[in-house]
Parts: sequence; structure tokens; C-alpha cells
Amino acid sequence: MMKYTFPETFWWGSATSGPQTEGVFEGDGKGDSIWDYWYKKEPERFFNGVGPEKASYVYKTYKEDIQLMKETGHNSYRTSIQWSRLIPEGTGEVNPEAVKFYNSYIDELIANGIEPFINLYHFDMPMALQEKGGWENRETVEAYVAYAEKCFELFGDRVKKWFTHNEPIVPVEGGYLYQFHYPLEVNMKKAVQVAYHEALASALAIQKYREMGQDGEIGIIVNLTPSYPRDENNPEDVKAARIADLFFNRSFLDPAIKGEYPQELVELLREIDHLPDVQPGDKDIIKENTVDLLGVNYYQPRRIKAKESTEKLAEGPMPDDYFDNYDMPGKKMNPYRGWEIYEKGIYDLLINLRDNYSNIPCFISENGMGVEGEERYINEEGVIEDDYRIDFIKGHLKYVHQALEEGVNVKGYHMWTCMDNWSWTNAYKNRYGFISVDLENEGKRTIKKSGRWFKEMTAANGFED
Ligand code: BG6
Repeated sequence: MMKYTFPETFWWGSATSGPQTEGVFEGDGKGDSIWDYWYKKEPERFFNGVGPEKASYVYKTYKEDIQLMKETGHNSYRTSIQWSRLIPEGTGEVNPEAVKFYNSYIDELIANGIEPFINLYHFDMPMALQEKGGWENRETVEAYVAYAEKCFELFGDRVKKWFTHNEPIVPVEGGYLYQFHYPLEVNMKKAVQVAYHEALASALAIQKYREMGQDGEIGIIVNLTPSYPRDENNPEDVKAARIADLFFNRSFLDPAIKGEYPQELVELLREIDHLPDVQPGDKDIIKENTVDLLGVNYYQPRRIKAKESTEKLAEGPMPDDYFDNYDMPGKKMNPYRGWEIYEKGIYDLLINLRDNYSNIPCFISENGMGVEGEERYINEEGVIEDDYRIDFIKGHLKYVHQALEEGVNVKGYHMWTCMDNWSWTNAYKNRYGFISVDLENEGKRTIKKSGRWFKEMTAANGFED
């Protein structure tokens, strides 16, 4: 038996986002985001035709839900403000119903001893802005900074942990490379511009936060997918893995923490004439406004080999022109989501932050396992016995613990997610929560075995195994 003990001050909790939980209700004044719009247009693209207008009804149930957070051992919780709820047209008028809702949600969390971590952007561009190009358009950067300022002004007296984006690479991949987010384009030139504008918007929001004299911390949440070469002794594999790392990890990690882009990435984009449009002064803004705190979402590694296939994913350039994904034999899989489970990846990425990113204060802001058909594990008391999720958490926490012991500045662990939520086009296919949501039964909540275990584990600040 080994004992894994974490610091008394460790942040324990879970994460979600506004669009995946709140739902849309008559009279709530919410404007459409790209998700509302896309769902109305093509509902068949969403698993079982379930859209964002239902989600998990949290707009109505947050007070009861917060009680369940307490019962599952949360001392902190991350959600996002929906830009299209607060400012329905993306710019201009603020929706008073949204202000009431977020004020009450935040107050209720604090009153129950749960610190709110608030994210400003979780894949949910207001449709009115998408119509004008979304992140492709520099005006969206200005609109975003005005929105961020409004959020700081309205809620900054109580919210002390802010995040400018969740996984900013995902709207780039989904919307402009691999077609799983609206606007479903395949265009690397636009993808690069979108990524650049997101990073610039983040730096400008951080600048604004500090200019306003706010006294909390502000950061960004990135999904890190450590890139492992098929063969570490094969220089071509190693180079391919390094390029994948540049595209998918360092494209946001470096500007956010070091205030500059990796030179190798800049050169690579220059060679294919894909550098983004920038304006004088941008470089300094990015340089001077780096994050206080980094959230890291970790689900899976990336296995890479040197390019072997000649198949092109698109007519124009694509990141995949530089590497192939490597289907490593014997890897452990989550078959429902199709993602590899590799616990040591969480340690490797934390050590990388310690050694190459000035040991920035960080926390695991998402880690989780989506499973389909969890009802088959329901016992006589109606509780889902999700032992696989408990094993998944322990497996990762052991490595977080090791990283802590080796000096990594890691301050917490948030699970994806608190209650089963709406997973974009997968809707409610794979369930991730500590708490189940019965969609057939008005969203009835039941704590799963993992939720009870998490409560005990966090009360003890650790576990034995
Ligand atoms: C993260 C996102 O990528 O993973 C969440 O921040 C998402 O929004 C979660 O729901 C799980 O992935 P998915 O695609 O199964 O919903």
C-alpha cells in the first residue's frame, strides 16, 4: 500500500462550460452562439438529435446542483460565462437576465465554500460575430476584450480566478481544419489567423484585467497532448513529433507563458506563406501580458511517426503534411471516445512545465473518461458503480503526486465533469460526470460511486492504494 497525500490547500473539484450545462429557456434573453445556430440548421449532426437548448438545465437547477457539488467534495468549480448569454449580439447591450443568473450562481458557489473559477470563452462564438468572420476578423478581438472587461467589472469583486480561453486550439482544429465545429472549414491560412487572434485577445484581456486593478489571478486553459515519437532513436520520427508539438501545444503555450511564438513554428509558417496578419504593437502586447496561472486539460497523448502516407487531407497545406499519426500497438484505450489512456502523460507534461516554462503555477483543469451506456452499471440503489472512473482518477493522481514531489508547481485537480453534460456533437453519448443526469426524467441527478469516492478522497486530501 502506498499513501498519496496532497497539500491542504489543493484545489479539488470539477470543470464544465456554460453551453454544455445551462440550456436555453423562454425569456432568458440569450442570443444564439454558433452551437445554437448549427443545431437549428443540422440537428442530425448531433448524437440522437439532442441540442444545446436542453443541456443539463443548470440555468434552472444550479442551486440544487451546488449542494451536490458539496456532497462530492468540491472546494472549487470551473464553468464559463456564455458570451451570447451576457451580450446576445456579441457587442452592445448587456442582457440583465444573464447578469442576474451569473451573479446568483457565483454567490451561491461562494456561500457554499466552493471557489468559482470562471472562463470567458469555451468554443461558443456569438452567431452575430461569426456572421462577420468570428475569430478570423480582428474586430472580434476588440469585441472580446470589451466582453471580458464587462465580466471583470460585473463579477471581478467575487471571482478571483479568471481564464481567457478553454482549449483555444480546438476552435482552430474543429472550425478550420478538421470540421467538427462550425463553420466547418478546411483552410490552414484561416486556421492560423484564428489562432493568432485568440492568442492576441487573451493577452489584451489580461492587459485589461491588470489595468483595471483587479486583484485576482488570470490565466488560460490549454489542452496539452504530449507528442511521443514512434521511435525515439529515429530522427525523422522525433522531428515529426516535434512539429506536431509546435502546432498543437506550443502554438498557445509559448505565447501564453513566454510571450512569444517558437521560432521554428514561425519559420515553418513563413515557408508556406501562412504567417498571420499582425499589426504594429501586437508583439509587445503578447510579450508583456503573459498569464499568472495555467490550466492544463489532459486526456490523451499524441503518437507520431514520420510522414509515410502520400494521402493529402486537403488541397492546401495542413499540419498533417508534416507527420502521420501512429497507431501504437497495445495502447490502452477508452473505446467509447476512441482516446488512448496514458496516465504517465500527465507527469511528462507537468515536468515539461517545470523545466521549460519557468515552473509556472498550474493545475489540472480537466481530466476525465467519457463512457457510453453507463446505465448497465446501475446497482439496486440506483447508483452507477463506475469503478473504472475511480481507477482512472487514481492512475492519473499518482503521477500528479509524483510531479508534486519533484517540485512541479501544481495546485489542483479538476475532473471533467461534475454532472453528465452535453458534449457538443456527441451530445449525451459519452458520460463524464461524478453525477448522472437522467434525460428521460427531467434531468434527475444521482451521485455515482466515483462522486462518493471523490468526497472521501478530497476530505482526506489523498488516498491509499
Ligand atoms: C475538452 C473540452 O476537450 O474535453 C470539453 O474542454 C469537452 O468541452 C471535453 O466536453 C470532453 O470531450 P468530448 O469531445 O467527449 O466532449
